[in-house]
Amino acid sequence: MVQPMLQVDGVTMKFGSLVANNRVTFHVNKGEIVGLIGPNGAGKTTLFNCISGFYTPTEGRVVFRGTDITGMKPHLICKLGLTRTFQIVKPLKEMTVKENIMTGAFLHVNTRREAEESADEILEMTHLHDKRDQLAGSLTIADKKRLEVARALATRPDMLMLDEPMAGLNQTEVKEVMELCVSLKENGLTLMIVEHIMEGIMPIADRVVVLNAGEKIAEDVPEVVVNDENVIKAYLGERYHAQSKKS
Ligand SMILES: Nc1ncnc2c1ncn2[C@@H]1O[C@H](COP(=O)(O)OP(=O)(O)OP(=O)(O)O)[C@@H](O)[C@H]1O
Ligand SMILES: [Mg+2]
Repeated sequence: MVQPMLQVDGVTMKFGSLVANNRVTFHVNKGEIVGLIGPNGAGKTTLFNCISGFYTPTEGRVVFRGTDITGMKPHLICKLGLTRTFQIVKPLKEMTVKENIMTGAFLHVNTRREAEESADEILEMTHLHDKRDQLAGSLTIADKKRLEVARALATRPDMLMLDEPMAGLNQTEVKEVMELCVSLKENGLTLMIVEHIMEGIMPIADRVVVLNAGEKIAEDVPEVVVNDENVIKAYLGERYHAQSKKS
C-alpha cells in the first residue's frame, strides 16, 4: 500500500474537561485536496494545531511522510515540508508584501538574493506581483489572505494546510482562491483546507472529512458527504442539500 502523505491516528485534544478532538483518525494522500468541514467549535482549528505542532495532542499520533511528528516544534514540522496558515491572518504589517514572503523563504535559503528570487516567483504565482511594494497592513482582506498563502508557500511545503482561506471574501475572490488551490495541486502540492464556504470547497475537494463536537462523523468524496444524513443534521442543513441535488 502507498504510504499516505499525512496520517492522523486517534488524535484526542483536551482542554481541561473539554474534549476538542476525540480520537480523530484520517489520512491525506499525496496530491489530494482534502476538505475539513463542520460547525463552529467542532475542533477543526484545534486539529490543525495538533497536526502542525502548535499543540501536542493529549493522545494519538500524527505521521507525516512516514515520520512521527507528534509534539514536534512547528518550525521543524515546517522544515519537513508541512506548513499551515492561520484563520486570523497575521501579516507583518510594517513590512511590504514582498518582504513578508521573504520571511518564509528564509527557512530554506540563506541570502537575501535567494529569498528575493523565491519571493518573486511566489508573487507571480499568487497574483500579488503588482502589490509587492505595498505595506501588508494596507492590503484588503482578500489580499491579506492571499499573502498568508504566499508566505506559507515560501517555506516550500509539500503539504499545505489552509484554515478558512475564503472567509470574508466575495464570490469573485472565492473563485480566485479556488483556482489558486487547484493550480497548486496541479503543481504537485497536497492540500488540506478548513472552510465554511461550501460552494468554495466542495467543487475542488477530492475528499472531505467532517468534524462535529470533536468527532469525525464522515469522510468521503464530496458527493457522498453532502447527502450524508448525519452531516446534514449536524452542519449542512437542508439548504445546501437541496441546492446540490438540483445542480
Ligand atoms: N486554547 C484553547 N483553550 C481552551 N479551549 C479551546 C482552545 N482552543 C480551542 N478551544 C475550544 O475547543 C473547541 C474547538 O475549537 P476550534 O477553534 O478548534 O473550532 P473550529 O472547528 O475551528 O471552529 P470555527 O469554525 O469557529 O473556527 C471550542 O469549544 C473552543 O472553545
Ligand atoms: Mg477554526
